[in-house]
Amino acid sequence: MSSKVTRFGVSIEKELAEKFDSHIEQEGYGNRSEAIRDLIREHLSIEQLGTDRTPAVASMSLIYDHHHRELPDMLNTLQHEYQQIIVSSLHVHVDHDNCMEVVIFRGPNCWIKKAANRLMATRGVKHGKLTMTTVS
Ligand code: NI
Repeated sequence: MSSKVTRFGVSIEKELAEKFDSHIEQEGYGNRSEAIRDLIREHLSIEQLGTDRTPAVASMSLIYDHHHRELPDMLNTLQHEYQQIIVSSLHVHVDHDNCMEVVIFRGPNCWIKKAANRLMATRGVKHGKLTMTTVS
């Protein structure tokens, strides 16, 4: 372990820890540390998205390899999680390996950024682009 790495202990309810373990196993993490590092990074990057609640509309395109383990399921789950701000989505089978997903959002600026960031950061997504504009 490099000297630039720090260790800390976390106290957590047994039931929550078990849920977390089975969740990270499904997502393909090798160990808890890896998963917790990703959670912290995600949390910090969401904070940087700010609290701008201006009504906005946006479209996002994602290119991904549909052979990638669990990726299509994960993208689907995330879209259900954000159904309040996802107006529609379009799936295009680009070639043998690649799919394109176009997602249209409508809602508060910072919510859209958060949802789009999570979708684009899903492991296995090759390319993602968000185009956002305000309504007012
Ligand atoms: Ni496809």
